[in-house]
Amino acid sequence: MIRSRFSKGPSPEAPNRRGASAAHLWLASALALGIAAWLHAAPARAQDVDAGPYVPTPQYIVDRMLQMAAVSGKDYVIDLGSGDGRIVITAAKRFGARGMGVDISEKLVDLATTNSYKEQVAGRVRFVRQDAFKTDIGAASVLTLYLLPRFVLDLRPKMLVELKPGSRIVSHDYSLGDWDADNAITFDSPEKEVVNGASQTSLFYYVVPARVAGTWRFSLPEGMPQRSAEIQLQQSYQKITGTISGAKARPLAHAALRGERIELALPLGGRNYVASGQVSGERIEGTIEVAGRGKLPFSATRTAPGKAVGWP
Ligand SMILES: C[S@@+](CC[C@H](N)C(=O)[O-])C[C@H]1O[C@@H](n2cnc3c(N)ncnc32)[C@H](O)[C@@H]1O
Repeated sequence: MIRSRFSKGPSPEAPNRRGASAAHLWLASALALGIAAWLHAAPARAQDVDAGPYVPTPQYIVDRMLQMAAVSGKDYVIDLGSGDGRIVITAAKRFGARGMGVDISEKLVDLATTNSYKEQVAGRVRFVRQDAFKTDIGAASVLTLYLLPRFVLDLRPKMLVELKPGSRIVSHDYSLGDWDADNAITFDSPEKEVVNGASQTSLFYYVVPARVAGTWRFSLPEGMPQRSAEIQLQQSYQKITGTISGAKARPLAHAALRGERIELALPLGGRNYVASGQVSGERIEGTIEVAGRGKLPFSATRTAPGKAVGWP
């Protein structure tokens, strides 16, 4: 029998939408449905993390997950805990994406592979027997999850470190805790009553933020009150705040980050200059609106990294 880590109790972190009791209901229902018998025949390897039983996402919810992430032919979709492969197969068949599914059950990986041939997308998707926690997810532009709450939370640092900024994540039913969703929807799904005791489904959407915490030296264009500035950025997941150094440090009137796009309002000479740019590692490049001159280029270099909430 597979040993389930959630039997050790819920995460110490504040529970997301549904807690451990829902998890137990989920498992109980899966057992009732006879799915556990299937899994019993295909046990995970002892060293693998068992992040939840096999409960397939209904097809119309799969569609909504992929629509929420605006999946297209440019995407590479990874489903962590891919079951019969339906998310990755749908991403390929209906949205033209490529992708990979990983699951700890060999039988489910075989089933997903067979399904990919049946659906004629085997050339664009692959399924691998692997522990999600040991999978390199760096190739994903879209990551999907339908795993028990505490494991979704445990995956956060890995997602922040391995996924490229701008990659999208959709988590079915369980949020990423103190990482606030960029979008969330809840809708009726009566058939879920038997699965987890709730007749609603929630989908949580995230855009992976660039890590920007630290001190940045800005080179500013001609026409601004000063030609350089030092800015400190504080970061908690995608939320940022900042201060500009000077005789007296002043807070930035506005600071926003989406993926690697950053927008900062720099208070200089009695007005706010809005800088919009692209973060690339230790550099930011973009433009600043200067009155009467239009948008002029600026660049910034990080001179010291800072601690960012969420990253290990
Ligand atoms: C709730 S099912 C979701 C299946 C599929 N993603 C879907 O939405 O239809 C969770 C899946 O995760 C798999 N799983 C559990 N722990 C895992 C782990 N550590 N690594 C990879 N897969 C895992 C289970 O075998 C199961 O197939």
